[in-house]
This record gives sequence, C-alpha cells and structure tokens, in this order.
Amino acid sequence: PEPGWTVEADVAVVGSGIAGLSTALRYVQLTERGRVVLVTKDRLSTGSTAYAQGGIAAAMAPEDGPVAHMVDTHLAGAGLSDPHAVNVLATEGPDALRWLIGLGAEFDRTDDGGLALTREGGHRADRVAHAGGDATGAEIQRALVAAVLAEERIEAIEHAVALDTLRDPGTGAVRGATLHVMGEGARDGVGAVLTPAVVLATGGMGQIFAATTNPPVSTGDGLALAARAGARLRDLEFIQFHPTVLWLGPEARGRQPLVSEALRGEGAYLVDAGGDRVMEGVHELADLAPRDVVARTIARTMAEQGVDHVYLETRHFGRATWERRFPTILASCREHGIDPLVQPVPVAPAAHYASGGAEVDIDGRTSVPGLWAVGEVARTGVHGANRLASNSLLEGLVYADRIARRLAEAPPVPRPARGVASGTVTPLADPACAARVRTLMSRHAGVLRTGEGLAGLAAELDALARPSSPATPDVAAWETANLLTVARLVAAAALHRTESRGSHQRADHPEPRPGLRIRPVVVRLEGNTA
Ligand code: SIN
Repeated sequence: PEPGWTVEADVAVVGSGIAGLSTALRYVQLTERGRVVLVTKDRLSTGSTAYAQGGIAAAMAPEDGPVAHMVDTHLAGAGLSDPHAVNVLATEGPDALRWLIGLGAEFDRTDDGGLALTREGGHRADRVAHAGGDATGAEIQRALVAAVLAEERIEAIEHAVALDTLRDPGTGAVRGATLHVMGEGARDGVGAVLTPAVVLATGGMGQIFAATTNPPVSTGDGLALAARAGARLRDLEFIQFHPTVLWLGPEARGRQPLVSEALRGEGAYLVDAGGDRVMEGVHELADLAPRDVVARTIARTMAEQGVDHVYLETRHFGRATWERRFPTILASCREHGIDPLVQPVPVAPAAHYASGGAEVDIDGRTSVPGLWAVGEVARTGVHGANRLASNSLLEGLVYADRIARRLAEAPPVPRPARGVASGTVTPLADPACAARVRTLMSRHAGVLRTGEGLAGLAAELDALARPSSPATPDVAAWETANLLTVARLVAAAALHRTESRGSHQRADHPEPRPGLRIRPVVVRLEGNTA
C-alpha cells in the first residue's frame, strides 16, 4: 500500500522487548543528536520479554567465568553455535547486565547484597540472575519502558504493524519501512518511517504453533518482513520447545503458562503418572539436562505411555519457598485449579523460542544493507541447534549494544528520500487459515518430526498460501499473512535438515550427521533451500 504520511528518523527500531528497547536506549546514549522512532505492534509493554520467568544468564559469580558460560552454551547448541558469537555473548554479558541494573532494573539479592544466582537446564554453574522471584522479564520490561519514556529523542509509535522495507531503487539499501498504524489521529493508516537504518527486534513466532509460551503478538512479523526483503534466513528448523508448560487439557490453544526451569534449578523433578522419574539415567545433568534433551525425553515418554502430559514434583519445596521464589507460577497454577503444595504440577512441552532467524553478522547486520536484526528474530549463531536457558535476554542486551555502537559511529547520513517497497505483504482475512496453520505445525513440526510429516505439512501450507481474496487490512489480517509465510519457511528448513540435532528431531534420520554441521540451511521465501 502507498504510504499516506511519513516520519523521519536516524534509526527505526521495530519491536519493544528487551532487544528493541535496549537498542533505542543505547543509541541515544551514544549519540548527541540521533533520533529514534520505536515502532511496536501493540503497547510498549506488550511482548515476550515481560513473560520471562527464570532469569538472565551472565557469568557474574566469582567461581564462574565467561569460558565456563561459553562451554555450556556450546554443549547446549549441539555443535552448531558460532564460536565468535558465543565468545561475544559470554564476555560482554556481565557488563551488559550491569548496564541494565544501572538503568534501574532491580534483581533479587542475597543476604549480603550480592546478586542471587540460580541454575537452569544445561548450566553447570549458578549464573541466572532473577527478579521478583520468578518475574524477571516483567521487571526488566518495567525498567526499560520507564527509561525509554523518559528519553525525548525516542518517539514511540504504538499499535503499528511494520509491513515492508523501502529501498533505494539503485543500490537496494534500506530507506525506511512502511507501517500500518491502527488507531486515531494523523498517523492513522499506512505511512512510512524514512530512515537509513531499520532494526528488527520483533521477537519470535511461537504463535505459528497451537500451544506456545509466547504471547499473542509473537507472530513472526519481523522474520516475514526480512524474508520479503530477501534477507538470508538461517537455522529456522531449530524451534525450541519448553519442556514444562502447564498442561491445561488437550484442547488448550494459544499462550500457555510457563513453569520455569528455575524450579528444577531449585530441586524440582519430572515424574510420570506412576511416580517414576522421567530424566533418571538419560543425561548426566538429569532434570537439568539441556532443554532439547528434556523436551524430547518427555515427548517420548508421553508417546510410549499414550498420555499427553507428565508431572513436575515440587511438594518438597513447602509453602515458604513457593511463595518467596515462585509467586507468579504459584498464582498461575492456582488460577487453573492446581495447588503445587499438595499435588504434582501437570506439564507438557510447548513451542517456546526460535533459535534461528534472520542471519546477522557479529554486529547485527542482515544480508540487506541498512536492515539490522536483534533478539529472537535474529540468528547471531549463539544458540546453534538449541538455545541455552536464559541466554536469550542476555543476547538481546549484548547485541543491542553492538548494533547501537555501529550505528552511532557511522557518519551522519542525510535522511533518505522515499524508496520503493521491496516485497509486498497482502493481508489475509480468513481466521480459519491461522488456526489451520497452528494445528498443522503442532502436528508435524513439533518436538518429534518425520520426513513424511514435514513433506505433507509443506504441501498443505503451500495450498493455504494460494491467494484467497484480499482482506480489509487490520492487525489480524497482517498477522495471518506473516504466520503463513513463517510457517512455510520453518517447514522447508525442517524438511531440508535430514538429521537429528538439538531441538530438531527426526524419526527418519535419528542421528546427527557431522557433514550437516557446517552446511547451513538457508531458506528463501519460495520455500527453496540452499
Ligand atoms: C524458564 O524460565 O524456564 C525460561 C527461561 C528461558 O527460556 O530461557
């Protein structure tokens, strides 16, 4: 659609979780005059970050160190993590966390005033800082939103869906992005932000699955935009399933309550209906094995026993520990009629995190000049085939800082004239389409996959993509178009990776294939892979 209004900025950041807010803040901290337009699809406070429970990982303890953090990140990543990216994450992590604390985020403390640190799956040291017991993300989001609102040089545009990049017709460089603002006033309808730098920080795509820990806004919009812009996308097959999501029955759909891994860090353990331990003898770290190992062990146990959930045993915690350390989870269990003080908590895996995304270099540049990506939408190489717990908040912080530095040190560029749209998203109205995508993805691209299932999935998604009648453009219609695009890309990537590795497990190729370790699966919008 043709933009009806324009706004100019030095940088446009799309998304308002930890990655987007930190990029905007760091940029204005590092420049004297730079101006940021921060675009978000809902409110500034809405998004995945606020739901993060367990915490943020950083090697802060005296007995820990960046090298130990790197080793655990690589072991979790199942051989696919990029050493340079992991090195940057682990070595720059502690300073990034200190920056966040300096901004006003209040983390839980020990009696002597030090940071209280816990453990989660795959960590061999206590390095997960938390806030409000199990409300870490809410506190981080609160502090970042307050800092952004206090910053005059950041203009926030809420209720705005980013549609497509605008490009220089000669060089292909980004000149801005089109937006659809839902609401009243001068910026209502489709407009454009004109800028030489667009930073995607739109988060994940959990909503392409029937059950997910992600909020409703996580529909893969940034990834779909990057795909339409022709950016290289990588590792999309590695969707991480969180092992312990509160099981609310076979018909439960949409965002499901997370039951943090930090519970297992404090001694909770998984059992089946007969009370037998699920993780015993499976991995040296047992219940604290990396997340992919725990999720697939639960999925196999459920398949063998013909059940749809297992249990998390926490009754030995007692009331005081539950109330002090895990008040959010306690409340959400009770809201659903489960009292973890007297009964084990029913749990099952659900879609949680996209380890892949738009491929970026060590400073967050995608393959399209002027288009940057940070946080869950980006593929830095840190997470490989399976993200280590609590590395995602840290990745958002560390790489936001790197992008902001590169943008701040770049020579000033005149605000660009309006470019031409690259790719065009067509809104899809059919609500049945989104529901069908989710059902198909959960059935065929879940924790345990087969080549036959994935091939059928790809064909069914292709059929759904045949143009239906264009719809009145609204948030749901843009989201449905993006969901379908992203689901097709994930299905193509999963079909192409003929091995089992990390969070991508195929019954028809049950082992890792060393040759595939170094051959990335890069997908393009048509579903082709290279
Ligand atoms: C959790 O608290 O279990 C989630 C942490 C994460 O996804 O890193």
